[in-house]
Amino acid sequence: MILKKDIVLDSDPLLRKKSEDVSFPLSNEDEKLLNDMIEYLENSQDEEKAKQYDLQPGVGIAAPQVGVLKKMFAVLTTDEKGVLHKYALVNPTLVSNSVGKCYLSSGEGCLSVKDSHFGYVKRSYKIKIKAYDYVSKQNIVLSLKGYVAIVVQHEYDHLFGILYYDRIDKKNPTDTSDGAIEIV
Ligand code: NI
Repeated sequence: MILKKDIVLDSDPLLRKKSEDVSFPLSNEDEKLLNDMIEYLENSQDEEKAKQYDLQPGVGIAAPQVGVLKKMFAVLTTDEKGVLHKYALVNPTLVSNSVGKCYLSSGEGCLSVKDSHFGYVKRSYKIKIKAYDYVSKQNIVLSLKGYVAIVVQHEYDHLFGILYYDRIDKKNPTDTSDGAIEIV
């Protein structure tokens, strides 16, 4: 089980490193981590369990955030239409991403970041990503847009040592002159 003490914070240089490809068949260790990451997200979104285990709510978590530099992350959230998106992706590759941008009006957060960083994080509005999905146990190509695309891009960034605040324009943190779509 992943607990608060297991989450690597951004003060740790490990979060700036690039993750390695995962080899198949998945090792027991890798499978355990994938299960643990999904479990963390489920528990953290359950009010009682979050309180019981002292978990910060999250919609995504990447392997480097628990100290494992391997290309794996989990996502658990619903989109604008209320459709559930539950994935545990292994070796994800961004196949394409739109020029059109979007951003969360409230800014982004991260389990590994305690300080607040003001500003919009511009990301592609639409993405296509391929990976092995441990939830559905198959290779998948996901076409995502809006909120879920933002969550997936945030987690994908963790595999390359990138944190959300790296993407905030420090001089003009709330600039929307690029036509970026606001996601509320
Ligand atoms: Ni994060």
